[in-house]
Amino acid sequence: MTKSDPRAIEKAALLIRRGGLVGMPTETVYGLAADARNDAAVAKVFDAKARPRINPFIIHVADAAMAARYSTLSDLARALIDAFWPGPLTIVAPRREGAEISLLASAGLDTLALRAPRHPIARGLIEASGAPLAAPSANRAGRVSPTAAEHVIASLGDAVDMVIDGGPCEIGLESTIVAVDGESVRLLRAGGLPRGDIEAAAGAPLLGPISSPTPQAPGMMTSHYAPRVDVRLNAQAPRPNELFLGFGGVRSGAAGALNLSAAGDLREAAANLFAYLRALDAACGEFGKTGVAVAPIPEEGLGEAINDRLRRAAAPRA
Ligand code: TXA
Ligand code: MG
Repeated sequence: MTKSDPRAIEKAALLIRRGGLVGMPTETVYGLAADARNDAAVAKVFDAKARPRINPFIIHVADAAMAARYSTLSDLARALIDAFWPGPLTIVAPRREGAEISLLASAGLDTLALRAPRHPIARGLIEASGAPLAAPSANRAGRVSPTAAEHVIASLGDAVDMVIDGGPCEIGLESTIVAVDGESVRLLRAGGLPRGDIEAAAGAPLLGPISSPTPQAPGMMTSHYAPRVDVRLNAQAPRPNELFLGFGGVRSGAAGALNLSAAGDLREAAANLFAYLRALDAACGEFGKTGVAVAPIPEEGLGEAINDRLRRAAAPRA
């Protein structure tokens, strides 16, 4: 599939309108898109990912006007939308009564998670289909998110009707999710938009997630984004059974080692993270290793989201 073929978007839009599933590039990660108004299509997305049906999807829209058809946006939500849409920010806001979004897509919650992606192919697909798109990351539940079309095909295969190849994702981490409640903003998932940017626009620090037995953003389950092999964090060097994932000056000359960013650039590291975790996961067999050791990443800017994903990748599996 060529990268910017308008016929590919037209064909994908037709599939969406007929209830099909399309792998689409966004600036964050690839999504598995379906018409969010179509229960049967949404059910197929849950099945393709083997995702528990209590875990709702983000609804992808063109802009604030489209979001307002389905949800009630407070002044603060609109201010964040003005500042960051289209882009890697998802806003959780009250669902409008009678909103034409599948209840399955939002897992029966009284809120919706909405995002306007800025990737031209994702935007083109929303426009050409005329549909709000329910689109989780296009990977099997609990596994590493796809940042290239090949990852989608490797992960979901025949379960997806078509994948539009937009090349590697620019950001490489999922969107930041915030819940806007009156005049406060709560961070539900760190992601591709750093906390500091949102705090500057909101004029206040972000509140943390409320801990409750039912996760507020179930993607926040402890083990997630998990490769098959063991992951060990904050490592200065690999052990004999490990491949190494370096960052900046913490590197390894051992065979098979990769570096998220030799220059120590967090943007570059974010863009490489999932592809390198996949590559090292696959290479462990070849090198006779059983795990991956990862260098420390500073907890600043995009480092917050990178470390969040790494901690989940390293967490004991359910
Ligand atoms: O960058 C992204 O956000 C990508 C691209 C494809 O847009 N999508 C993505 O979707 O990461 P997914 O399904 O892998 O993660 C969406 C997260 C889940 O953790 C889900 O629980 C949460 O959003 N979520 C969805 N609706 C919600 C709601 N109403 N309230 C709280 N969390 C919600
Ligand atoms: Mg996901």
